Amino acid sequence: LNNGLALTPPMGWMSWQRFRCIIDCDSYPDECISEKLFKTAADVIASEGYKDVGYEYVIIDDCWLEFQRDNITKELVPDRKRFPNGIKALADYVHSKGLKFGIYENYGTKTCEGYPGMIDHLELDAQTFAKWDVDYIKVDGCYADYRDYDTGYPEFGRLLNKTGRPMVYSCSWPVYQEIKGLTPNYEAMKEHCNLWRNWKDIQDSYESLRNITEYFAVNQSRIQPHAGPGHWNDADMLLIGNYGLSIDQSKTQMAIWAVIASPLIMSNDLKNIRPEFKEILLNKEVIAVNQDELGIQGLRKRFDDKIETWIRPIKPIVNGEHSYAIAWSSKRIDGAPFRVSAKLESLELNNANGYHVTDLFDKNRFVVDVLPQQNITVRVNPSGVVFYKFTPK
Ligand code: GLA
Repeated sequence: LNNGLALTPPMGWMSWQRFRCIIDCDSYPDECISEKLFKTAADVIASEGYKDVGYEYVIIDDCWLEFQRDNITKELVPDRKRFPNGIKALADYVHSKGLKFGIYENYGTKTCEGYPGMIDHLELDAQTFAKWDVDYIKVDGCYADYRDYDTGYPEFGRLLNKTGRPMVYSCSWPVYQEIKGLTPNYEAMKEHCNLWRNWKDIQDSYESLRNITEYFAVNQSRIQPHAGPGHWNDADMLLIGNYGLSIDQSKTQMAIWAVIASPLIMSNDLKNIRPEFKEILLNKEVIAVNQDELGIQGLRKRFDDKIETWIRPIKPIVNGEHSYAIAWSSKRIDGAPFRVSAKLESLELNNANGYHVTDLFDKNRFVVDVLPQQNITVRVNPSGVVFYKFTPK
C-alpha cells in the first residue's frame, strides 16, 4: 500500500501469541488484556533498549472490547474494567514514550474470540480508530465469507485513507484463502495493504515455526515478488523469550524472519525475558538485515542434507554487486553440529574480488574473505542457524 508507511517491515510488540484472551484480571493482573499490559510493554520497549534498535508499534490484539457497541452512537466500546480510561488515553501514553500504537479488529460479524466485528460499521470504525490516534490496525477475517475479502479489505482501506490519519494496514486477507486452498490475489494485497498474514497462526513451538518457514519456502515463487517497501508478507509474531524455543531455535526464527523480510512483532512477556533471549531480539546486525532498505524478500535457495540455505540480497551494493545475508538453517536432529560447504559461485555470489564475511550473531568475529570459486564452510547446530553477511570487496 502506497501510503508512505511500513517502508521497512514493521517492528513492535503484540499481545496475542503470549497473552491470548486472558481477561481475568483479578487472578492474573499482570497478564490480562488490559491497559496495564500495554503500558508496561511501552515502558519496557522504551527503557530497555528495544526502541533503540527499532521496535516501535505496541499493538492490542483481540479481546479488548465490550460485547456490545454503544447503544446510541454504535461506536466500539473498549472493556470498561480493563481499559477504564479508554483507548485514546492509552494511545497517548504509548505516544508519550515515543512509540506508536496499534489495535485489532475484524472484517466479519465477530472477532475470532467473539467480540463485535466491523462488517456493518466499517466507516464508523475507521473514524473511531482515527479519533483514538491509532497508527496501526490489524484487520482479521473471522466470521466472514472469505470470498468477500477481495472487496471488503480494499473498501476498509479506502475508509481508513478517507480519515486522513496515516495508519499501517495489516490484513489477514490471504491466510483464510490459502488455508482453503485458493490462490489469493497478491497484486491486490500489495495495492491495498501494508502487510498481510499469509499462513497459519504461529504457536509456541519449533514445529509451528517450521510449518510457517516451510510454507514460505514452498510458495516463495508465488509470494516473494509481492514483497517490498510498503507491502510485506507477514510470517506472524516472534516467539522468542517464551516457553517453546531453545536459544538455537530462537536464533533460527530471528535469522529466517530477517531473510524473508517479515515484520518483527514480538509477543512475549517483556518484563520476564531471560537475557540470552533478549540479546537475540536486540541483535542490531540481524535487525539491519530485516530492515534492509532494498526490501527484497530472500529465498530458500537450497535444501540438502536437511540443511536449508536461505539467501537475501541486501545493501551495500559495491561496484554493482549486492551484499548478501545467508542463513544456514538446520532441520537435523542428530547431535553433532553438521558441516556444510558450498562454493560461493554455486550460491550465485559472483563478485570477482570476493567477499568479506562477518558473523551476524557475533559481530566481533571475523570469519574470512572468500572468492567465488572458493568454499565457505560452516557448522550448524541441530535446529540452529549460522547467519553470515557477505560484503563485496
Ligand atoms: C486469529 C489471528 C491471530 C489472533 C487471533 C485473535 O487467529 O490469526 O493472530 O489475532 O485471531 O482472536
